[in-house]
Amino acid sequence: MNAKRKINRIGVLTSGGDAPGMNAAIRAVVRTAIYNEVEVVGILRGYSGLLNKQFMGMQSHSVSKIISQGGTILKSSRCPEFKNKNVRAIAMENMREAGIDALVVIGGDGSFRGANLLCKEFGFPVVGIPGTIDNDIYGTDFTIGFDTAINTAVSAVDKLRDTADSHNIIFFVEVMGRDAGFIALNTAIASGAEATLLPEVHTDIDKLCSFMERDRRKNKTSGIIIVAEGEEEGGAMEVAAKVKTKLPGYEIRVTTLGHIQRGGAPSCNDRVLASLLGYEAVNALLKGRTNVMVGQMQNQVVYTPFEEACTRHNEINKTWCEVSRILSL
Ligand code: F6P
Repeated sequence: MNAKRKINRIGVLTSGGDAPGMNAAIRAVVRTAIYNEVEVVGILRGYSGLLNKQFMGMQSHSVSKIISQGGTILKSSRCPEFKNKNVRAIAMENMREAGIDALVVIGGDGSFRGANLLCKEFGFPVVGIPGTIDNDIYGTDFTIGFDTAINTAVSAVDKLRDTADSHNIIFFVEVMGRDAGFIALNTAIASGAEATLLPEVHTDIDKLCSFMERDRRKNKTSGIIIVAEGEEEGGAMEVAAKVKTKLPGYEIRVTTLGHIQRGGAPSCNDRVLASLLGYEAVNALLKGRTNVMVGQMQNQVVYTPFEEACTRHNEINKTWCEVSRILSL
């Protein structure tokens, strides 16, 4: 649906897991809108704020100095109630009452599912911006937050490597990514991990043990094994326990990096991506585009219908698994 209609006031919200760079995207949305003489209303705590009328007017100074801050000044939440059509109708009514006539949603595929329904059921103009550390959104080479998250994970693994070497330990390091292995694979390659377990590749514990024994024969006394949280054996804790029963002589430790991957100052790449996509999202709305996510592929701006952005997924490059394995020999 791309019917052009006059937009005087845009709402902006962040939804789902926070990601570094969301603030840079908010800043870009606010300033691009103001440049085009359109007012902006910030909606707090994602879709929950739409239901509770948690609205705040935003001016250019509202977003001063936030480009370098992690998290989201608008706060975020997951809002399962939004799956209910009657609840979405309340959100629509609240937006009408507040004079909001278009919306920018910054979030992941769950957030775009809600956005898709607002467009389809109520003909309301919505454009999405991919913000999640997982990098699993179809229609963009990178999601906002991914670059910062992998840099955080790599610097944590570099530190663990020191202790692994000093004490002859094998570390099983669990990284986030839900059911996608982008964070794990990139972290593994960049930290020179000895092995990587991904949701996209079958985990074979016996094979992993024989890799570890092969390493030992080559006089490697320590190692790093990156485990994606969505890996089929149940995560780092479970995998480490299974390996320990087969290789009881090994000194094994488990570290779960957890939410530190979601925090911290956004990287330069994330700030730039967020700024460009925020700018493009507002311009898309002003040109009458709706029901799409704005992404970037091979340096080009790409619009992907929400329907596709929330049903398809980015795929890891399986060749990279081979690269990671060969380079850790
Ligand atoms: O989608 C981002 C993400 O951090 C995933 O990597 C992870 O599986 C999930 O969110 C964790 O969610 P929560 O913070 O609600 O536990």
